[in-house]
Amino acid sequence: MAIKVSHHLLLCATPNKASCCDPQIGAASWKRLKDLIKELRLESHARPEGIVLRSKVDCLRICEGGPILLVWPDGIWYKKVTPKRIETIIKKHIIKGKPLEKWILKTTPQAINLK
Ligand code: FES
Repeated sequence: MAIKVSHHLLLCATPNKASCCDPQIGAASWKRLKDLIKELRLESHARPEGIVLRSKVDCLRICEGGPILLVWPDGIWYKKVTPKRIETIIKKHIIKGKPLEKWILKTTPQAINLK
């Protein structure tokens, strides 16, 4: 049986070259992201929208204003994703479907409608 996935969150948190963020802030954001996904049961297969996957990546080719978070499939890249911001992004964007425009660095052409 195929797994239904609602979102995949890719966070550049502790890059090898540490060119986009303080690795301590990145590590704290990554920990908060993992903890929230668990606490909010976003990995539950009983979730009708599908599960939320998360991956820590080395570099998302932005390399400034990090930690950078890419939300797939929405095509939204968030900047300066601190532990506090990650909580707001998950609760408002991932759960309620309302992206936070003030923290968006860029979008891809496939980005969901922000209105
Ligand atoms: S080091 Fe974070 S996007 Fe490149």
